[in-house]
Amino acid sequence: MPKNDNINNIIDHKLFTEDDIHAMCVKLGRQLTTDYAGKKPLVVGALKGAIFFLTDLVREMDVKEEIDFLDVSSYGDSLESTGKVKLISDLVTDVQGRDVLIVEDIVDTGLTLKYMKDLLKKRGARSVKCCVLLNKESRRRVDVEIEYYGSTVHNEFVVGYGLDFMGYYRNLRYIGVLKAEFIKLANNK
Ligand code: XMP
Ligand code: MG
Repeated sequence: MPKNDNINNIIDHKLFTEDDIHAMCVKLGRQLTTDYAGKKPLVVGALKGAIFFLTDLVREMDVKEEIDFLDVSSYGDSLESTGKVKLISDLVTDVQGRDVLIVEDIVDTGLTLKYMKDLLKKRGARSVKCCVLLNKESRRRVDVEIEYYGSTVHNEFVVGYGLDFMGYYRNLRYIGVLKAEFIKLANNK
């Protein structure tokens, strides 16, 4: 998939504008500021999709936080979860006794988030919560609590603002729904 494809040929319609996304970050940031008052949380970004959301979110949080990143994957280049989650790149921070907030772009089946939450609890974190931008509620396959989220979304494949299609389009400032023909194309490759 060439990176310089005309974006209008790829996106069916915009789902969230830059302003919509900003409003979600402000609202979540306010809530997190209240809930983590007096604590020093470790904010853990799930690579790579959460990088844009994390940078905007933490700047809306008036909290003394630290940042680290974790890369966990269940997808490869496919659009459907493989069902198997693997740790690709670990944190550098010790989470023992820490209040951890996982920041994720989207929760779909819930497998990735559950894996991350279980891993960090097992390592002795005092609390492990998550803040996801988009919640594809209808797709959930495992029971995992989503403490904070920006918006629910239907079962459509979305790209932009960190979310990718085969590695591309993360740098779009908005979130759009991918045209159905590209989903077929990716699934048949
Ligand atoms: P699970 O199924 O483990 O998956 O909850 C979470 C991961 O799946 C990816 N994902 C998407 N990525 N557009 C994307 O760009 C989507 O619509 C989408 N749905 C799921 C994403 O990497 C997320 O971390
Ligand atoms: Mg992801």
